[in-house]
Amino acid sequence: MAKKIITESSRTLMEYRLIPGYTAKECDNTNISLRTSFVFSENNEKKYWLNIPIISAAMQSVSGAKMGIELAKFGGAAVIYCSQAISTQAQIVRSIKNHKAGFVKPQIMKSNMTVEEMYKIRKESGHSTFPVVDENDKFVGLISKWDYDISLHANTLIQDRMIPKETIEVGINIKDLKRANQILLESHKSVLPILDNKGKIESMVFRKDINDQLDFPLEIHDEKKRLIAAAAINTHDFKIRVKALAKEEVDVIVIDSSDGHSQYQADTIEWINNNYPKIPVIGGNIITREGFRFLVEAGVKAVKVGMGGGSICITQEQKGTGRGLATSIIEVVKARDEYFKETGKYIPICADGGVTSTKDITIALALGADYVMMGRYFARMDESPTEKIVVNNRVMKPYWGEGSARAQNWKLRRYNQSKFVEGVEGLVEYAGHLRDNLEETLSKIKSSMCTCGAMNITEFHKKAVLEVVSALSIREGKPHDIYLSTENPEFNDLKNTE
Ligand code: IMP
Repeated sequence: MAKKIITESSRTLMEYRLIPGYTAKECDNTNISLRTSFVFSENNEKKYWLNIPIISAAMQSVSGAKMGIELAKFGGAAVIYCSQAISTQAQIVRSIKNHKAGFVKPQIMKSNMTVEEMYKIRKESGHSTFPVVDENDKFVGLISKWDYDISLHANTLIQDRMIPKETIEVGINIKDLKRANQILLESHKSVLPILDNKGKIESMVFRKDINDQLDFPLEIHDEKKRLIAAAAINTHDFKIRVKALAKEEVDVIVIDSSDGHSQYQADTIEWINNNYPKIPVIGGNIITREGFRFLVEAGVKAVKVGMGGGSICITQEQKGTGRGLATSIIEVVKARDEYFKETGKYIPICADGGVTSTKDITIALALGADYVMMGRYFARMDESPTEKIVVNNRVMKPYWGEGSARAQNWKLRRYNQSKFVEGVEGLVEYAGHLRDNLEETLSKIKSSMCTCGAMNITEFHKKAVLEVVSALSIREGKPHDIYLSTENPEFNDLKNTE
């Protein structure tokens, strides 16, 4: 006989709808705050608060350098995936931390590398323009994505495709960003390589960074005014990985594991807290109250909730383990609130796996989650590290699970087995820029909060009233009994996810 058999079904986010509450006049989108605690911090440090309740998943097809930089600018965070070499992951964290300064420490290409070799690095780093140096490390040119076509130039040497230094404006020994910006504006160029007296590359200044400050009021900074960076680790090579990430001054460490209620995870948390007590650790994933208790007692500062619900996940099918995300959130929220009552420590929870559309985010928050982690949502955007492809006249981007055959080299580390896969590989419809998607998403979340009379996420937790809906009711909530005359973008969420 099993220890316990729960006969009530677990529920998914799709099965809930919000019931409106009273909306006061001042409760409109412009007054709503989406600020939320990222990790518990004794001193309530500002950098441990997200300005939007959204982070991107630690996945190869989602969170590279570009996502890390862009999402932090919009007030969220990307968790840089750990299914890659430690040095490459550390390099990505470095590029995020160096981004804000304006003087970006670039990845450097050798002139005698082939375009194909460079292309591989480009895909991992997410950057598109690199300085090129000769055998003595002297700057000889720039290569950007416009200078080659990988299908034509894979075996060509970079030196035969790059823009040579003679035609490039450079700054020598410039330390003042204002001065660098001035040269950039005068030169009509979009990038300025900064060299030392010996002609070696020191940094690069990009024109697009100039107005960032004005454009990104929600940007999250560390104490040195640099963007915050979060990175994933596994419970196998964590000692050397955390050391390398700490050297780059990573702000938050996230343990990437499909089952966080384990001795491996407790040992990893204990080791990090002993050796790097200043770096908060997010643990997970768990789906029970006991799992939450276990992780907070082990020393985590936030907990990821969810198992078996990710859009690329086949864990439930393969292993029979998992739980509907809504039920998981409800259970863990109870444990979080109990723990808060007992200790005064509010350990935020992150809903992860199966949060695919805006209404899923809203329902997860209403149920008590503090923020969500999403993979599919971000994989569709320009800022994810994959290339667009056209299939049957539709623009798509590849998306694959960390436990899929495609991520095979590393799946052993997360899924701790090699005989079967726990994820699939597929395509998602290209969705354009992060900015456009986020703006619409955030506006919808705020609007739902207004309907419930909540001005911020804490109020939303207290005021939200939710109801389980029937399958017929879900059907009724979509356009019905008419012929749709156009492909209406407003229904993209419906088209893409349901
Ligand atoms: P999505 O937002 O529904 O696409 O789910 C993303 C989440 O799925 C990630 O944050 C992970 O928690 C989880 N995940 C990533 N890769 C796999 C996999 O291969 N199998 C099962 N779950 C996965």
